[in-house]
Amino acid sequence: MLETQGLCRTFTSDAIDYEVLKGIEITIKKGESVAIVGKSGSGKSTLMHLLACLDEPTSGSVSFEGRDYSRMSEKQRDRLRNEKFGFVFQQFFLNGRETVYENVVLPMRIRGASEKDLKPRALEALESVGLGDKSEKRAKDLSGGEKQRVCIARAIVGDPDVVFADEPTGNLDSKTSRTIEDLLLDLNRENGITVVIVTHDEDLARKCGRTIDLKDGRVRGVEPVPAELFAGREQ
Ligand SMILES: Nc1ncnc2c1ncn2[C@@H]1O[C@H](COP(=O)(O)OP(=O)(O)O)[C@@H](O)[C@H]1O
Ligand SMILES: [Mg+2]
Repeated sequence: MLETQGLCRTFTSDAIDYEVLKGIEITIKKGESVAIVGKSGSGKSTLMHLLACLDEPTSGSVSFEGRDYSRMSEKQRDRLRNEKFGFVFQQFFLNGRETVYENVVLPMRIRGASEKDLKPRALEALESVGLGDKSEKRAKDLSGGEKQRVCIARAIVGDPDVVFADEPTGNLDSKTSRTIEDLLLDLNRENGITVVIVTHDEDLARKCGRTIDLKDGRVRGVEPVPAELFAGREQ
């Protein structure tokens, strides 16, 4: 479903080149849950941004369902992100002054969905994360765990094929983290959504079907997929 070939990303700062990714070759299959792990600064977020079409490689390619991002127009890439992908970030990126409902429906508004389609979808998404009764609250008045649940609702409201999460529990205490982890992995196990999680939390990584370990810009190891954790088995 997601495939990279010879993927390299170099950042230049003060005329010095930093080769963050040096030829990454990975394939992520439909229905997998994958953790991208590695030390801070190892390029996890950079790799996730490239997979999610949020950044462009210095060389090499990324494709989704056989479509190479570099051959797509900007408009096609915007549509890909909006319709096929959902995003969850450590910093939430919610509009605190808006209601929970308005935050959740944003991807649908961007897509141009009709007003009458928004409500049932938003409420369904909010109910699936246990926030069905909080839709009219201001996002800023929620706890950290609730905010991240709003982000998960926003990530799934558009019925994505892949949810990308970058350190989704990085700002949460350990008990709240477990709830968020379970919600994300349930998307995979129960709804068959492919889930790609950047994390340095070993507990979270262990719950994923597979880990991709980055070191010095390369993939150090890709653990085999334990059969019982591979949610794609019904497909
Ligand atoms: N936009 C950018 N400009 C310059 N350097 C960057 C940029 N994004 C990331 N980097 C650098 O690339 C390296 C990897 O960053 P990142 O992918 O965020 O690592 P991780 O998520 O594993 O902590 C770091 O040294 C970081 O400073
Ligand atoms: Mg990061």
